[in-house]
Amino acid sequence: METETLNNATVAELVANDYRTAEIFKKHGIDFCCGGKKSIAKVCIEKNLNAEILENEILALQNQPKDATHNFNDWSLVFLADYILNVHHSYVNNNLSLITEFAEKVARVHGNHSPETKDIAKLWKEVVEELTIHMKKEELVLFPYIKNMERYSIAELKKFHSSHFGTVKNPIRMMEQEHDSAGSLMKSIQALSNNFTPPDYACNTYRVLYAKLKEFQNDLFQHIHLENNILFPKAILLEESLKPVT
Ligand SMILES: [Fe+2]
Ligand SMILES: [Fe+2]
Repeated sequence: METETLNNATVAELVANDYRTAEIFKKHGIDFCCGGKKSIAKVCIEKNLNAEILENEILALQNQPKDATHNFNDWSLVFLADYILNVHHSYVNNNLSLITEFAEKVARVHGNHSPETKDIAKLWKEVVEELTIHMKKEELVLFPYIKNMERYSIAELKKFHSSHFGTVKNPIRMMEQEHDSAGSLMKSIQALSNNFTPPDYACNTYRVLYAKLKEFQNDLFQHIHLENNILFPKAILLEESLKPVT
């Protein structure tokens, strides 16, 4: 990719084309999931970063051979949606109650000495409540609709779905707002926990809690990236292509 093209590309586009660039953006504290629709030039100004250094890092990485097994951008929407469900929704479901148990225990034991642990437990409870409802909407309504758009003709699609939401853009807009909300809650937890760094006196539960929260945030950002930057834009394009010619 030419330097000028790179400068104008959005963070989301670059990560969608090559997930390895996510590591570079993470390192520089650049949001590639919820706030990914900004150009490299813009984020460099906002973050006071040297665009040339960042671009050289990206170009160097793009010249290295890619792992051919996780080209999310090349996958069918059915396969990508199933991957998100089997990998990321399962991860969330398998970890919510364990992290809740640890967050409540740490807040109870250390809350007086470290009041931020009480705030973290409260914010985490909101993450759990929001994500539980959010994922149900995707699992029961949006993802089946997206998968069926790829499988069936517009006439057949109407038999399966009443499409009460009108265009697919409506539930997608709602899901993106909910991603912003969950993403901000996790960023607040990250700030309160000093970037998931336990204090020296932290017990094992405290340490495991911070390690799990960090792991959860990484998984959530990848999950949101796959939806916001790959699955949803492609679903909108697919819907456009299905519209009967008038
Ligand atoms: Fe999801
Ligand atoms: Fe989502």
